[in-house]
Amino acid sequence: MIDPFLSSILPRFFTHIIFFNYHVLSLAMVSVDSQKRQKIFNELLRFQQRDFCFSSGHILGSMCTVPHPIAREAYIQFLETNLGDPELCPGTKKIESRFVAFISKLLYAPKNSIGQIVSGGTEGNITAMWIAKQLSGKKEILLPQSAHFSFQKITSLMDLKLIELPLTKEYVIDVTQLKKNITKKTAAIIGLAGSTELGAIDPIPQLSDICSDEQIFLHIDAAFGGFVIPFLKKLQYNVPDFDFRLKGVSTISVDSHKMGYSVIPLGTLMIRNKNWLESISVESPYISCEKQAGILGTRSGAPVAAAYAVARYLGNEGYKNMVKSCMEVTKYTQKNITELGLDLVMEPAMNVLGVKLCKPGLIVKKLSDKGWRVNKVKRLSCIRLVMMPQITKEIIDEFIPVLKKTCKEVGEL
Ligand SMILES: Cc1ncc(COP(=O)(O)O)c(C=O)c1O
Repeated sequence: MIDPFLSSILPRFFTHIIFFNYHVLSLAMVSVDSQKRQKIFNELLRFQQRDFCFSSGHILGSMCTVPHPIAREAYIQFLETNLGDPELCPGTKKIESRFVAFISKLLYAPKNSIGQIVSGGTEGNITAMWIAKQLSGKKEILLPQSAHFSFQKITSLMDLKLIELPLTKEYVIDVTQLKKNITKKTAAIIGLAGSTELGAIDPIPQLSDICSDEQIFLHIDAAFGGFVIPFLKKLQYNVPDFDFRLKGVSTISVDSHKMGYSVIPLGTLMIRNKNWLESISVESPYISCEKQAGILGTRSGAPVAAAYAVARYLGNEGYKNMVKSCMEVTKYTQKNITELGLDLVMEPAMNVLGVKLCKPGLIVKKLSDKGWRVNKVKRLSCIRLVMMPQITKEIIDEFIPVLKKTCKEVGEL
């Protein structure tokens, strides 16, 4: 007589053995020559050692981050998945749905909305413009001068015309100028929820009112700010609304590989009405689903699993604490920079600082030679510093004397 407990676990035990053997067998088929492997990995390492890495804390100009350890682990576990052929991996597809549900909640997306997973802000912007073009049949896009360069790609790719609008002295879109430029040809208006150069937030409630009155497609580029603004609000910062509670907002893109604390490449384009996705879908013979929407075909489920894992791990409370600490480091950096005698382009709206300089290009180069990476914003004659989660006050304490010395060398101080 078999013990009832044993009889319940034995079948699972054998299934595990079969699975285990299957994996061992498949690994055995691609046995790796250890000497050859070592040689290749030595070569890879030699190249890798030339890279700057986020975990060093010396990359101060990028909007990407050291992935959260949970994201890293999930990424590796899902290396073999292809969400471009979704019925091959219904489990991973379910993870994607759950992740989209998380983003949807974060952005207050309505019931009839849909989320399209993309590789990041560029693909999110291009996809949104593709939808706008298909729905409106028009060709002019109105956008602030501060918009990310990814929008330039749509001009030749989709034969759309960009009309760049000037900024106010607060570095946000000039709404008066915007209104003057709306015509019958306007296909879409772009608003930034965190500009690339300075983290500035456009007056999105006003843009929403205009777009809902004029029946114009409004895309919000929240590639950076999507994981910041909701938590700044919870922390009582005075920031404008930017999400789907504004009825004129049509689409919002938000990147997990920026402030979502996850692995490159992952963004989500949230779309107000799921029917709109039809306009950028094609029939997809040869694969497991009948239609495929968007730009990519084959795409890995690994960054999706990673972004979901970190979102589950941190939750809203974890992201709020992360944003709180990024803002504390931002304030600390601001104080140190102004104490050096340098000015900021504007009061930081989020964890991005623009430091005014006469020769930003030279400073960037000299800092790079000293092992620190910051970004140059030529248009605003400044360098951009982004206080991502891995940047601590201790790192800033290390950086400030180097910045001071460099500024002295080139006569900025
Ligand atoms: C506001 C904004 N939109 C879009 C992008 C493009 O994102 P990606 O480089 O991930 O495609 C960036 C990149 O920094 C950005 O800051």
